[in-house]
Amino acid sequence: MKILIVGSGGREHAIAWKVAQSPKVEKIYCAPGNAGIAEYAECVDIGAMEFDKLAAFAKTEQIDLTVVGMDDPLVGGIVDVFEAQGLRVFGPRKNAAILEGSKAFSKDLMKKYQIPTAAYENFDDPQKALEYLETASMPIVLKADGLALGKGVLICNTLEEAKEGVKSIMMDKKFGSAGNQMVIEEFMTGREVSVLSFVDGKTIKIMTSAQDHKRALDGDQGLNTGGMGTFSPSPFYTEEVDAFCKAQIYQKTVDAMAAEGRSFKGIIFFGLMLTEKGPRVLEYNARFGDPEAQVVLPRMKNDIVDLFEACVDGTLDQIELEFEDNAAVCVVLASKGYPVQYEKGYEIRGLERFKDQKDRFVFHAGSKFSDGKIVTNGGRVLGVTALGKDLKEARANAYRAAEWVEFDNKYCRSDIGKAIDEA
Ligand code: AMP
Ligand code: GLY
Repeated sequence: MKILIVGSGGREHAIAWKVAQSPKVEKIYCAPGNAGIAEYAECVDIGAMEFDKLAAFAKTEQIDLTVVGMDDPLVGGIVDVFEAQGLRVFGPRKNAAILEGSKAFSKDLMKKYQIPTAAYENFDDPQKALEYLETASMPIVLKADGLALGKGVLICNTLEEAKEGVKSIMMDKKFGSAGNQMVIEEFMTGREVSVLSFVDGKTIKIMTSAQDHKRALDGDQGLNTGGMGTFSPSPFYTEEVDAFCKAQIYQKTVDAMAAEGRSFKGIIFFGLMLTEKGPRVLEYNARFGDPEAQVVLPRMKNDIVDLFEACVDGTLDQIELEFEDNAAVCVVLASKGYPVQYEKGYEIRGLERFKDQKDRFVFHAGSKFSDGKIVTNGGRVLGVTALGKDLKEARANAYRAAEWVEFDNKYCRSDIGKAIDEA
């Protein structure tokens, strides 16, 4: 088979790495890809939002299956464009990707189908939002409705902060049109867990759990980022939590989407908070997490192409999804200054140490070729993943392997996976 992967981050690198292990696959392309993905795939210089060009490429090259890694093209309707041209593609259609694309939609869905989540109100008028805040208790959470690169959520401790937040989201349009509507919701406390799943419209198969570290600095300080590291499984995702989510969240979400005429095929990523009252949905995403994919996929036993095909064909019920009984930790190596301001273009040295390793991998998030060298090309540069028999061992291995690579202004958190010591 010939596979085209759409995207250019660490997640797409992990997908390409896993797809490359399938005996069915003879050739992988990635648009636009990066310097790490180039080891497994021929990188094609077409942007992820250039749907017509991508579809034309898939036709010319006789691609058997296109896999979309990123949220923007999914929410923008890339799957509909491909399907309209008779091309096989893995991911939700536009009317289903709205599960991630509109927080107001997903909150209303959860309310209608009684899926546990934080209490909330939706607003499209900033004056009404400001009035509502006067009677609300603090802290409170403000969310821009649309995609905002993971930055559209504000946690406000005081009424003043919350009012400023409404102004910046809805009036100053800090996140652009993502702020045309907003959700104001109850502040919850608890552990966060990411659970990814394959969905074929009817059947859902849950992957092993993971946990992300979103803040830039140790001890969960500093600004929110795309994710500074992950571990899998989460020791806080117990059998009891799993049973609750299976009964109250996972299948209910798939059935709710089908009942709304928005049949979901692809990946549903459940962002959960384990509160005192039980698990609650924080958010849905319509794609693999980044850097969750970098710890979940290395633990997956199945041929991932079988799962992609089963989702497209509606035959997921015939597949048993299995994971290794081990653990993985991914440490993101970023450019100092991320997520605000950082420099790019520094040579990355030491990557060859990962060649032929069985339990240590380097997934590129922001890298490119320049004059025959691989150089930094983003805020998040690399994700170093290591396996171990348990989380402690995986964590030690990941930090050791993180030392193998060097580049100017390299920065990483030193406490990825440390929470497991408290488990
Ligand atoms: P989201 O993009 O909805 O996952 O929000 C980003 C982050 O904001 C989450 O990972 C949480 O850490 C935090 N967050 C979102 N909603 C809430 C909430 N209702 N209560 C507390 N924290 C929240
Ligand atoms: N790591 C969180 C996300 O992919 O949205």
